[in-house]
Amino acid sequence: MKVLVAYYSETGNTEKIARAIYEEVSKDHEAHLKKIKEVTVDTLNDYDLVFLGSACHSTDLAAPVKRMLDAIPHSPRFKLAGFFTHATSSGGFKRWASKCILSFQKTSKEKKINFEGYYNCQGVPSPPIQEFIKREVITSAGEWEEYFEEVRKHPSIEDLQKAKEFAQEVLSRMKF
Ligand SMILES: Cc1cc2nc3c(=O)[nH]c(=O)nc-3n(C[C@H](O)[C@H](O)[C@H](O)COP(=O)(O)O)c2cc1C
Repeated sequence: MKVLVAYYSETGNTEKIARAIYEEVSKDHEAHLKKIKEVTVDTLNDYDLVFLGSACHSTDLAAPVKRMLDAIPHSPRFKLAGFFTHATSSGGFKRWASKCILSFQKTSKEKKINFEGYYNCQGVPSPPIQEFIKREVITSAGEWEEYFEEVRKHPSIEDLQKAKEFAQEVLSRMKF
């Protein structure tokens, strides 16, 4: 099977997940790992399965990934699986990151893309985003410290392992 792992990552968190998925997938399949800017929508049809990854920006998938999703034609031959990293703790996920899931699901439904599910985990935010969260979202000093102590560890070794398990699970479903 031919598999593409394509991703958009600004500060490296999503790239770590992409590499973990690629590592797993390339054990038994012809796999390619590419930044989204290296991929055109036409080339997606060369693949049987595409893992598409993004950093979460402004509560949704990052703009280059949304553009790629928008450009996918109806009923493509490839199957799609998603992954994203975000800076939200579980209590804030619905407000700050759940659109990422909706975007994958909505586009897949509208375009009749076979969507094989998604993986997500936290990724430490960059200093300007830390400042934003501290100022606008988690304004209590104690809660900020608790939040930052946890988020700074991600993506963790466990997150990478879970991403690999997700990739295996998707691949196992592709075997007819
Ligand atoms: C411009 C910008 C906007 C962001 N907006 C959100 C957001 O709305 N929700 C969220 O959970 N994280 C947000 N983040 C944090 C990133 O999604 C998170 O740190 C992610 O792991 C970054 O991935 P990367 O290192 O692959 O770029 C934002 C980051 C940036 C740079």
